[in-house]
Amino acid sequence: MHCVQSVTESIYWIGGNDRRLERFENMFPIPKGVSYNSHIILDEKTMVIDTVDQSIRMQYLENIKYILNGRDLDYLVVNHMEPDHCGNIEDLLKLYPKMKIVGNAKTFKFFEQFYNISSPENYYSVKEGDVVDLGKHKVQFFNMPMVHWPEVMVAYEQTEKILFSADAFGTFGALNGNIFTDQVDFEGYYLSESRRYYTNIVGKYGVQVQMALKKLSALEIKIIAPLHGPIWRDNIDYLLDKYNKWSSYVPEKQGVVIVYASMYGNTENVANCIANKLAQQGVKDIKVYDVSKTHPSYIIADAWKYSNLVIASPTYNGGLYLVMDALLHELSSLSFQNRKVTILGNYTWATGALNSIKEHLSKMKNIEIVGEPLDINSSIKHDQETLLDEIVQEIVKSL
Ligand code: FEO
Repeated sequence: MHCVQSVTESIYWIGGNDRRLERFENMFPIPKGVSYNSHIILDEKTMVIDTVDQSIRMQYLENIKYILNGRDLDYLVVNHMEPDHCGNIEDLLKLYPKMKIVGNAKTFKFFEQFYNISSPENYYSVKEGDVVDLGKHKVQFFNMPMVHWPEVMVAYEQTEKILFSADAFGTFGALNGNIFTDQVDFEGYYLSESRRYYTNIVGKYGVQVQMALKKLSALEIKIIAPLHGPIWRDNIDYLLDKYNKWSSYVPEKQGVVIVYASMYGNTENVANCIANKLAQQGVKDIKVYDVSKTHPSYIIADAWKYSNLVIASPTYNGGLYLVMDALLHELSSLSFQNRKVTILGNYTWATGALNSIKEHLSKMKNIEIVGEPLDINSSIKHDQETLLDEIVQEIVKSL
């Protein structure tokens, strides 16, 4: 059966959810599932804005046919060509062969790369600021390159002041019937997943997101409808503030994330002792992660949230423990920057981890090293406690 909801009187959410998929992009765990949002505007002309992933194809086609109720589909907007939003373009072309596919030159190029179909007679190319007139509704397009792919556009419906924002402002987490943020406990249920989505998927492109925010600030926006997660129809300034912080690499909170690697518990012991001492110094909300246990996407999200990071790792094959090496490489690839970092290495016969951590950090912008880097020789001893105390004092001072 169809499963749709109205967003406004003539605009409907026609998307769906996937709670079976283990990993988004086959990389990021999504224990709360994910939604693929699509919308339709019913006016003198009809317009669908983005399709959905193939995994929910049957539901999606049923939704569209129900809402159109025998009408033709005039326009399909493709704001983003990533396949999680384009799994049904070919289906719609078969059902509505006269529909115009609204995109830009890169959209159509990517479309022909992904699919064994070329349909130039259906292409309706738009440039920055172009408007498609549906009758009462007028839909204007703005380019948002690299948020999250180069072809990305957003669609702004001028009459109802709705921004269809592509991946921007989206989140992991399926929609549980409530499709609006004002119907859910956003901070309690979605915020951490929203941060994890942003940092891991779009985090690298902070400069481009800043440019996008500047462009959007000229628009009066009443509703933001992203491609994943709930729709915003109030508290939009809260969301914009989060995006502003995330994309400018400004921490949301003064606090400490401790991430360690440990084979036999000795480096773990140092991490626990530092956490313990920080707590006794009054530091609250400390996060401690074993890099081998927790998926990096969660650690990255918290590294983005807090001001301070403590990295502790043993040497491995003369270099850095491989899982920690991968995490730091990922942080660096995501343009992680502007943080206070404390580093600890461990070695038994030849040091390697500490220098390798420093090398990773040297590739990141505006990293302040807090405390004297400490290289432990296999395990920390009672008579070295003052070294840890000094490090903890430096971290507390930096908060
Ligand atoms: Fe939700 Fe970049 O695709």
